[in-house]
Amino acid sequence: MTAPASNDALMEDIVGLCKRRGFIFASSEIYGGYNGFYDYGPLGVELRNNIKQAWWRDMVQRRDDIEGLDSTIIMHPDIWKASGHIDSFSDPLVDCKESKRRYRADQLFFAPVILDDEKVGYVAFVEGTDSASIIKRAKKLRDNLDKKQSKLDEAALSSDHTEFTEATDAQRELTLAPDANAVGSLTAPRAFKLMFETKVGPLADDSAVAYLRPETAQGIFANYKNIVDTGRVKIPFGIAQIGKAFRNEITPRNFIFRSREFEQMEIEYFIAPDADWKALHREWIDTCTDWLVSIGLSREGITEDIHPEDKLSFYSQATTDLMYQFPHGEQELWGIACRSDYDLQQHQKHSGKSMEIFDESSKTKYVPHVIEPSLGVDRTLLAVLTAAYTEDEVPNDKGKVEKRTVMKFSPKIAPVKAAIFPLLKNKPELVEVAQKLYKKLQRRWNVFYDASGAIGRRYRRQDEIGTPYGITIDFDTIEKDGTVTLRDRDTCEQRRVTEAELIDFLEEQIDG
Ligand code: GAP
Repeated sequence: MTAPASNDALMEDIVGLCKRRGFIFASSEIYGGYNGFYDYGPLGVELRNNIKQAWWRDMVQRRDDIEGLDSTIIMHPDIWKASGHIDSFSDPLVDCKESKRRYRADQLFFAPVILDDEKVGYVAFVEGTDSASIIKRAKKLRDNLDKKQSKLDEAALSSDHTEFTEATDAQRELTLAPDANAVGSLTAPRAFKLMFETKVGPLADDSAVAYLRPETAQGIFANYKNIVDTGRVKIPFGIAQIGKAFRNEITPRNFIFRSREFEQMEIEYFIAPDADWKALHREWIDTCTDWLVSIGLSREGITEDIHPEDKLSFYSQATTDLMYQFPHGEQELWGIACRSDYDLQQHQKHSGKSMEIFDESSKTKYVPHVIEPSLGVDRTLLAVLTAAYTEDEVPNDKGKVEKRTVMKFSPKIAPVKAAIFPLLKNKPELVEVAQKLYKKLQRRWNVFYDASGAIGRRYRRQDEIGTPYGITIDFDTIEKDGTVTLRDRDTCEQRRVTEAELIDFLEEQIDG
């Protein structure tokens, strides 16, 4: 297996823009930040809400076979016993005895250091480390061995990466950890529990222990019976939920890609046990891919990772992850799993309540099987930021070509949909018309009014936050035909439109 390559410069640019323009801040920043937690600023919260609304509209409101749900974050602890999380929701953890750092063994890789055709040890490095840094560490190992003159096989380092979960004791003893000076400092992997614990009620003993949910899915299974009993659904049908989830990740990393508090958008899609689950799974993979494309990700950037059968959980029939090319490499964005009837059977057993449904079409009763498309909101937001981030060159007001940073968000999810500019701020007749249009558009969409600075500078400010349309009120508007100038963020093309044409156009692009 090869650790994915990273593009650190792109990630730095995205993180910088997010802070500068108020998309995302480190949580508790005034106290130095808090690892694995992030806050969303004025533009970030708009973008995030737009992603969630687009998902809810497409997956719930525009489908006849899916119902919505909003369950609690803290639920009866027996739910986590039944689901298997208490016993087995853990990650393999490796400690470095020298640096005191902790790593997830499945995100740590190691490669052989070969000097003069002889294997002398290994270097360990975290997912996303570039080859220059790996070679540097191998040279350190060479120096430690006092073999400065030996020829290092760099090809072996860049091709032969193995996950640290597979390291033997002998290999560990010879491995130089990412932040250590001497070999042999890494411990064998051990299970680290990921659920956050809390206490509920006045008692502080073990009987009060409860958990922050590590996935929204179990709230759906726990409410499945309620929704079936309301009589609105028939097989096949889904229950969808958007909500916070919490995991005490060993190595929260790569900005909002893996955090300790995040949000999920999950569907449990219930099907008959004898349904053609393979065909339905394929349908869901295609639906999910199309949805990602509809919010602005390129189809070519999305690939499918089919989990090999020997790596599936015992109850899972198949899992395919939609992978995306993030700045730190190609990584999982959306997991689409066929989970059989495992969860409902577990809850039936532990709660003593029947999870059967009566299928009108076949006149039979059964516990349904489930297909689960599970997507992270924050990870989608990072994918959207990655896809949108563009640096190009466009002519300024005076026709001189200059560099600009532009976020090419789809109008459907862009935080600000349009900016309204009076050409000059000291002409009350322009300002009055611009304000009137601004107030009108504001009733429907998040729009922005900006009267200060040269028009070119105003355009650039909006380009950098991804506002797809600029609307300028000029003297032709007030003196001639009432038309306004509509500027396209990506092409910078401008055309004159009437107010009615403008509203039709915005409606189609934003809400269509
Ligand atoms: N109910 C199934 C489930 O939770 P998962 O693969 O553990 O499956 C589903 O998580 C999705 O949730 C992932 O594909 C990812 O988008 C998101 N996700 C998981 N852990 C995350 C984390 N620590 N930070 C941000 N997003 C996360």
